[in-house]
Amino acid sequence: MATLCPVAPLHREANASRLQITSVKTLAESSDLTSIPSHYAFTTSASGDQAVHSDHDDSIPVIDFSLLSSSNPDQRRKVVSDLAKACQDWGFFMVINHGVPESQMKAMVDMLTGFFDLTEEEKKEFEWKNVLDPIRFGTSFNASVEKVFFWRDYLKVRVHPKFHCPTKPEGFSEVLAEYSGAVRKLARELLKGISESLGLEPDYIGQAMNMDSSLQILTANLYPPCPQPELAMGMPPHSDHGLLTILMQNGIGGLQVHHGGKWVMIDPVPNAFLVNTGDHLEIMSNGKYKSVLHRAVVNNNSTRMSIVVSNGPSPDTVVTPAEQLVDGENNRAVYTGMKYKDFLELQQSSVLDGKSGLDRVKI
Ligand code: OGA
Ligand code: NI
Repeated sequence: MATLCPVAPLHREANASRLQITSVKTLAESSDLTSIPSHYAFTTSASGDQAVHSDHDDSIPVIDFSLLSSSNPDQRRKVVSDLAKACQDWGFFMVINHGVPESQMKAMVDMLTGFFDLTEEEKKEFEWKNVLDPIRFGTSFNASVEKVFFWRDYLKVRVHPKFHCPTKPEGFSEVLAEYSGAVRKLARELLKGISESLGLEPDYIGQAMNMDSSLQILTANLYPPCPQPELAMGMPPHSDHGLLTILMQNGIGGLQVHHGGKWVMIDPVPNAFLVNTGDHLEIMSNGKYKSVLHRAVVNNNSTRMSIVVSNGPSPDTVVTPAEQLVDGENNRAVYTGMKYKDFLELQQSSVLDGKSGLDRVKI
């Protein structure tokens, strides 16, 4: 797989002061921008890194969520087996008939557009200081440790077990509470199907991961138009830290998934959710369901927004492989236990880099 190489390494001190100044949005809106500043330019090793369209015979799996609540046991069995296949073969799937009203999804996009449209002065109030702050407005991933920045602004909000929300724009908290609540329910139901697909009791994950207090974080990613999209990167290849990530976007594509040794472009489908398995599902399933690398590329004509909800265990849960999936002989536990919030703190404090978070708990 290609590695990203910084063209213009910079000192940390310089990064820290730049953090105070520029969001990508402000930069992109400066009228004379025809090329990107050097601290946004990556080179990718040329071969094998271009993304492809998905193959007709092997396209991203589609899960019909309505069948999970079917009273017909055959239908439920079928969707549980679809989930097993999706988690094993792709680690990414599309969910349709999910029951979250289109109006709620649209309201969330509109509200977050309103947030990013606040003045820089207003947004400054929400700028992050520590990686575990409940509300974090920022740019790139962790600009205090990066040499080259990603073409991305973001807002991260912890919405569960304790609900937080920026005080602006007006009405934000109602929309956010409703949307994140609906997505949390969806995640919990999917995790029931996934538990069953692993041969466990439906609420195994719910209970073992203390999902009544699950840590849920909503991230809004803003990728403004970029004059040299081939040099910039929206988000580098990474896996997500939680159990399940649930993503929607504003109709503009840019997400790519690493599948079958290639980067596959995922085209946006209106009103569907994209779901991917995270590092903690890999840990609890003892590697049966692996978290999958994905990245976001940028384009030169439209602003893309993705709204990404990470659904994890409760912050204090020490996650270990499920006992039922481990035996002394052939199937030893290959991950050691770590408290979810400690894993998160380490991952968020570092440069975002592939699956490096998981390497810390591999035995
Ligand atoms: C993320 C992520 C991809 C995208 O926020 O973790 O992978 O398409 N985003 O914005
Ligand atoms: Ni991600």
